[in-house]
Amino acid sequence: MQLEVIILAAGQGTRMKSSLPKVLHPLAGRPLLEHVITTALALQPTAVHVVVGHGAEQVREQLAQFPVNWIIQHEQLGTGHGVLQAVPALSPDSTVLVLYGDVPLIGTETLAALVAAAATDPALLTARVADPAGYGRILRNAAGALTGVAEHKDATAAQLEINEINTGLLAAPARDLIDYLPKVGNNNKQGEYYLPDILSMAVEEGRTVATCQAASELEVLGVNDRVQLNQLEREYQRRQAERLMRAGVAVADANRLDIRGTLSCGHDVSIDVNVVIQGDVVLGDGVEIGPNCVLQDVTVGAGSTVHAMSHLQEARIGERCSVGPFARLRPGTHMADGARVGNFVETKKADIGVGSKVNHLSYIGDCVMGDHVNIGAGTITCNYDGVNKHKTEIGAGVFVGSNSTLVAPLQIAEQGFVAAGSTITKAVGREELAVSRSRQRNIEGWQRPGKQQNED
Ligand code: UD1
Ligand code: CA
Repeated sequence: MQLEVIILAAGQGTRMKSSLPKVLHPLAGRPLLEHVITTALALQPTAVHVVVGHGAEQVREQLAQFPVNWIIQHEQLGTGHGVLQAVPALSPDSTVLVLYGDVPLIGTETLAALVAAAATDPALLTARVADPAGYGRILRNAAGALTGVAEHKDATAAQLEINEINTGLLAAPARDLIDYLPKVGNNNKQGEYYLPDILSMAVEEGRTVATCQAASELEVLGVNDRVQLNQLEREYQRRQAERLMRAGVAVADANRLDIRGTLSCGHDVSIDVNVVIQGDVVLGDGVEIGPNCVLQDVTVGAGSTVHAMSHLQEARIGERCSVGPFARLRPGTHMADGARVGNFVETKKADIGVGSKVNHLSYIGDCVMGDHVNIGAGTITCNYDGVNKHKTEIGAGVFVGSNSTLVAPLQIAEQGFVAAGSTITKAVGREELAVSRSRQRNIEGWQRPGKQQNED
């Protein structure tokens, strides 16, 4: 069976009260529509057609990397009209699955079952909910077979009592969409072309419409406003945290870990509260992440600790390293095994050698550092001359005294020694001591200023 997917994503999302098109609002760091496209692609369909309207250009641009067929719906005249825009692109022998761009957590297993149920006749995904307000109600005959969907605004008082609702997601043979959709009218309270009308058309021809239920209610929840978006976000994050815990990660608080990307962890990893993970993060065995840390596209080797309040971006950290508290590792930072970067240290494009230490209050940028180097407190690599960036090369075993400024381009050869408070502008040779500061003078018998005696 050949599958095609249509994703409806043309609506404005007025209730988001945002200039960003609704389907671009992020859930776990990715646009709502991206979640749906990814799920659709996982079903390996022959085509995914995405119907866009409001903010179409912006939506297409932001999701340009996905192999989907973009279809513009210029006016949003209803779900039936939206699907109709994709009908010319369908091949008549396909089974078609209709998804919503604002129902992001729908799962592949639920969809596979829905598609399987629609091999010869349409099938609809329904749900029983405590509060059906606003949804289309599922109408069934005495035998329990589906006869149609009554939209909330069109429903009778008796129909409003029904708590089985239309999730909006359905599957049908492409031929049914091709045959029925052009016949759907808009003679209803909203003056819209309703997609579920194709179901009653099938029933009128004596056919049966199967119904399926989602594995969990979360899967069929739609996003209409920021409150619903946040509910989905929190639930999604809590589930990710629980998955990690089941896999053996010590998560201090499932409600205070946000993963906006992918996180993979070795054995006995522990993650304290208020940690944000972005992009792809890999934590080796025994890694500890302290409270209030942000890690984006970072690899941390086994046995390393990232202490509280540290911000790490595009960095590679070796084994048994220590980072922070209050460290900022910017892109291109590479710490070899056993290296340490301490409090109030910023690094960028920095190679820090095995066992090397940058423990306090430093800026290390565009720097290659050998093994077992000791960088004193307050050391600054002056890598920028106002126009260009220059490199600082520091050999193995170098000792840089506190409050030194290293003016790049600069080389300090192995075992070199820079005296505290120096401004170094010339290369330092192997085992040399470089001192560059004014000599200390002590003035004997010096008189301290006293308080002036003023008249008034
Ligand atoms: C729709 C269903 C309703 C169901 C509910 C579930 C119809 C007529 N009603 O109602 O039975 O209970 O979903 O949430 O189908 N869209 C377009 N183009 C359009 C109209 C809508 O792309 O012309 C998209 C929207 O962006 C959205 C989705 O289709 O992603 C659903 O549209 P929405 O207006 O939210 O449908 P409801 O009226 O809530
Ligand atoms: Ca809706």
